[in-house]
Amino acid sequence: MREIYDALIIGAGAAGLFCAGSAAQAGLRVALLEHGPEPGRKILISGGGRCNFTNLDVSAKNFLGANPHFCKSALAGFTPYDFLALVGEAGIAWHEKTLGQLFCDDSARRIVEMLLARMNGAELHCGVRVETVTHDGRFRVETGKGVFQAKNLVVATGGLSIPKIGATDFAYRIARQFGHQLVTPRPALVPLSVEAAWIGALAGVAAPVTAQAGKVCFAESLLFTHRGLSGPAVLQISSYLTPGESFMVNFLPGTRLAEILPAAKRARPKAGLKSVLAEHLPARLAAHFAQAHPGNLADLPDQALRRLGDELNGFTFTPSGTEGFAKAEVTAGGVDTRGLNSRDCGSKTVPGLFFAGEALDVTGWLGGYNFQWAWASGHAAAKAIRERC
Ligand code: FDA
Repeated sequence: MREIYDALIIGAGAAGLFCAGSAAQAGLRVALLEHGPEPGRKILISGGGRCNFTNLDVSAKNFLGANPHFCKSALAGFTPYDFLALVGEAGIAWHEKTLGQLFCDDSARRIVEMLLARMNGAELHCGVRVETVTHDGRFRVETGKGVFQAKNLVVATGGLSIPKIGATDFAYRIARQFGHQLVTPRPALVPLSVEAAWIGALAGVAAPVTAQAGKVCFAESLLFTHRGLSGPAVLQISSYLTPGESFMVNFLPGTRLAEILPAAKRARPKAGLKSVLAEHLPARLAAHFAQAHPGNLADLPDQALRRLGDELNGFTFTPSGTEGFAKAEVTAGGVDTRGLNSRDCGSKTVPGLFFAGEALDVTGWLGGYNFQWAWASGHAAAKAIRERC
């Protein structure tokens, strides 16, 4: 039997590490339990190894969840500028890539090192398998490495994405055990499968597009893959799609092709459709859309050109599915926020039980938003625990 901790945190990912650091900085006795061999494995692979650790422009509009207001309080309590101050103090060089997305100049490992350094005094136990969690006023966590007890428990074990680096349904099982509901978890920020031979033939082609589903629209790039579609625009829209739902891609945002193609026919009747389209689209994509219309523009009726223009300005894709949790950057859905206080992500019914990070039904856009949520929710939980101790 070990000492009784102020806070036991399960899951040494972004949220757990940050929560442990904030709690340790407040002078609390903290133990962080991780079943994997090392902490922060998702941080290490994030942002192509450079970790898109936050975004300069973060608000509730960048998140999905059954309660779109839930994330506001925690996000306001720990902002991107607060995280940036820590990054600056740690001497980590960074840059803005695009759309407010901040990345490390060298390696994501610097962020993990910073988070570990901030945890001074907190215990980190890796390779720990949690067997049972019980609560009788105090939490008792039985593990393969002994029993840990604490007044407060933070479940920061993430969602189901990328099981091969340690994702489990632990948070959902604990949530249910303590009477909380779940919003059905589903893969998000995930490549989409599209069953059409021509798509696979274009694998590797990328184009700047807008991708739209209902009122949501993202202007980023799309990438054709062997199995369907990926790229930032598609990953973003994937989070909003329900199974079987279609979405629309504009391959030429800001350009009315239905007007441009008939005008080009009058100006250059001997030009081929393929070469005119290639002035606006990647060559392989232009060749694909032109293949049904060989010959010169002069040979094509205006109506056919207008129809093709409209198609390229509003192409409908109906995915057959997604590439699943194995490829999803995040999990949408999760622990239902209706059972939690938005101020600190603590249970409304079990005092001292907190959830942080991706385990909750709070899902950010691509672009550093999910890490900002992990830092902010971990920080909010640590602050509440300090007040309880
Ligand atoms: P996270 O998954 O990070 O951590 C959970 C921890 O709990 C893990 O260490 C896991 O091993 C552990 N665990 C699970 N079950 C357990 C159990 N039963 N017992 C003990 N431990 C257990 N976001 C972003 O903002 N910018 C980016 O650049 C990227 N890039 C990116 C790339 C890739 C490839 C992926 C898959 C994801 C991203 N993300 C991202 C998303 C981001 O990584 C993610 O949202 C956060 O890591 C979530 O942090 P959490 O701490 O909640 O979960």
